[in-house]
Amino acid sequence: MKNTAPHGTSDFVVVANRLPVDMETLDDGTTRWKRSPGGLVTALEPILHDRERGSWVGWPGVPDTKVEPIVSGGIDLYPVELSSDEVALYYEGFSNATLWPLYHDVLVAPVFDRDWWHSYLEVNRHFAEETARTAAEGATVWVQDYQLQLVPRLLRELRPDLTIGFFLHIPFPPVELFMQLPWRKEIVEGLLGADLIGFHLPGGANNFLFLARRLLGLDTTTAGVGVRSALGKVTLDDRVVQVGAFPISVDSRQLVEQATDPAIVERAAEIRRELGNPRKILLGVDRLDYTKGIDLRLSALGELLDEGRLDPSDTAMVQLATPSRERVEHYMKMRSSIEEQVSHINGDHGQIGRPFVHYLYQPVDRSELIALFLAADVMLVTPMRDGMNLVAKEYVACRADLGGALVLSEFAGAAAELRGAYLVNPHDLDGVKNTIMAALDPEREQGRRRMSRLHRQVLDHDVHRWAQSFLGSLSPVVD
Ligand code: ADP
Ligand code: G6P
Repeated sequence: MKNTAPHGTSDFVVVANRLPVDMETLDDGTTRWKRSPGGLVTALEPILHDRERGSWVGWPGVPDTKVEPIVSGGIDLYPVELSSDEVALYYEGFSNATLWPLYHDVLVAPVFDRDWWHSYLEVNRHFAEETARTAAEGATVWVQDYQLQLVPRLLRELRPDLTIGFFLHIPFPPVELFMQLPWRKEIVEGLLGADLIGFHLPGGANNFLFLARRLLGLDTTTAGVGVRSALGKVTLDDRVVQVGAFPISVDSRQLVEQATDPAIVERAAEIRRELGNPRKILLGVDRLDYTKGIDLRLSALGELLDEGRLDPSDTAMVQLATPSRERVEHYMKMRSSIEEQVSHINGDHGQIGRPFVHYLYQPVDRSELIALFLAADVMLVTPMRDGMNLVAKEYVACRADLGGALVLSEFAGAAAELRGAYLVNPHDLDGVKNTIMAALDPEREQGRRRMSRLHRQVLDHDVHRWAQSFLGSLSPVVD
């Protein structure tokens, strides 16, 4: 087995709460690695693969376990150990019951707990220390996401020689919501340790600039930030922090290659047969999260069935839900209520051997996922709020055949680019129902034109372009 590069020799280091693989302990006590959930890993993995040598600092997904550095998929992985307490306070608590709901429009009430905050600070410090050990002199470090917003500053204190980028994978909230956070100044100061702070959309970047002025009294540019252009600037005593919008994307070419593989095309046809050859297949693919609007889409489908506008004998719905944050209260509640909705719909509208909703609470292989994308006539992406939503982009990247239709929430970051989708306001149930009906039976040429526009967009703006535009703008600016 190849050894990881010795500590202190990595020129390019990604730092994220999770490593791209999670350690799993099997019943017989042995361990193995499996792909970690979520869009962050989907996006960053191909970027690191492209580099000759890249390092990733992160948590291996199990508490109280010391794991040695390993090489996986050509990437050097440097594990950060978290105790059970830290998982409960920093990860499940502050990251996922304070920041996650606060940054997603307060869809559920964020909890503000001082012990969680202290743990967040402590764990951010561990991450900064492990990164400081890993990075070579003058290296570039790219810190990821809301779990690690204090790392840029802590790391700069330890290693002023590094170039530090930060990217937020979730929405940055409106100023009025952010101001609820008791530790709002510390978070803004933490982020300002970076040389470049990236958001998906200009709105997030502009909100951040406003907060730097308002909360910290700093001198910032006031002109609106553009997409991959017109970066904002925050002037500190000795340096300038750049702030920009860089919409993340997927490895489109790789997806096209897989989606045109005859074995996957055949598997898509087989899935349709396994579902009983319905005329139309609807698909949802999400982490099981209350932000994703899985409940909303099930309500819309339930009503369409009740009203006789959808015929369960010729239509099927597949809903994949990846288990996520299963010990956080709102995730447990959400799981039960979604499963209740699924059984309700199937109880009312299913037949023996032919449920309407085919629901899997498990991750599936990439090749199976791509076959499902090819089989789906309508993809339902209906979050109440989402930073970007890579599933929407994966679906249109896979539809090189120009078939299928995408129903997409206006509140997903992806809606800013995928204007040709069937856009819906997820708060408007009747609007969602009508749009699903329209997407099920578009006029053929019009449907192909829509998909062609979407497909081209995602091919032109793939994850490599995202990384190039961010890293191309990342360099220290001295005042
Ligand atoms: P988030 O990062 O909030 O989970 P995204 O839509 O941006 O949302 O990214 C989710 C990623 O996880 C996508 O790459 C998607 O294909 C993958 N994914 C989601 N659900 C499943 C599943 N059940 N099986 C396999 N992959 C999944
Ligand atoms: C989203 C977040 C990521 C996170 C992922 C999975 O994509 O932006 O930072 O890793 O969800 O969530 P988890 O809590 O399982 O890491």
